[in-house]
Amino acid sequence: MSDKYCVIGNPIAHSKSPEIHPVYAAQTGQDLVYERCLAPLDGFAATVRRLVAEGYRGANVTLPFKIEAAQVCTRLEERARAAGAVNTLSFEQGEIIGDNTDGPGLVADITRNAGVAIRDKRVLLLGAGGAARGALLPIIQQQPREIVIANRTVATAEALARDFARYGIPVSATGFAEIAGSFDIVVNATSGSLAGELPPVPAAVFGPGSLALDMMYGSRPTVFMDFASQAGAATRDGLGMLVEQAAEAFAIWRGVRPDTAEVFRKMRP
Ligand code: ATR
Repeated sequence: MSDKYCVIGNPIAHSKSPEIHPVYAAQTGQDLVYERCLAPLDGFAATVRRLVAEGYRGANVTLPFKIEAAQVCTRLEERARAAGAVNTLSFEQGEIIGDNTDGPGLVADITRNAGVAIRDKRVLLLGAGGAARGALLPIIQQQPREIVIANRTVATAEALARDFARYGIPVSATGFAEIAGSFDIVVNATSGSLAGELPPVPAAVFGPGSLALDMMYGSRPTVFMDFASQAGAATRDGLGMLVEQAAEAFAIWRGVRPDTAEVFRKMRP
């Protein structure tokens, strides 16, 4: 019998993960099935218990359950604890182990796919919600020179900067209009792109050598990518991050890291 995995969410029909993992499995010769799992909004924990009872080996977690997922775990990896959210569950010998591969996926996309080192760079993170929180520790572990978090609600950015101050990398907080200077790497972790809304950052945050990455993706560049591109930056959307977070989850479960290039090419809308 093939090992069973799934992605839990509500809604779940739109999830791309069931298109990604079978390609990774075929590529690495792993015998597994990967399904969609719709959990009732008030029934996430019960759904996880059912999956464990049915012999599933693990699951990805997507909206709106990533924070609740941290609560059902019997053990949390450090990056999941720092993110305050879980996107990857492993069911092992009675334990439910939670990890978060979103931030590592972002870092892998920047460093491997875009070929941009984060070490010693100035990084600007736009947004201070769950997506931004998940990105912080993996970015910090790359040893950037500095991280500035800018958010519409400055107090939320300040709280996030305080939470991540203890890792020895300067992390500061600001409002969009007050961002000073230019940055090597600018990551848009606001949910604004969903509604076609641009975080109102000065164009001067981008320089000719900057990389601007939007965590969102679609068939066209986002408004943020258009803005950054006009200001001279190289741009990426969130598709690379999506396939990389899946590869990181696959590696946690199966102990082998797939090659993401094939999936990236297939999924490019
Ligand atoms: P996620 O899990 O996607 O990060 P979230 O936790 O709700 O979602 O956080 C959304 C982030 O996008 C926040 O930083 C939010 O700013 P506020 O903290 O001020 O609410 C930001 N955001 C949402 N819509 C935005 C918009 N139109 N312009 C700028 N920032 C926006």
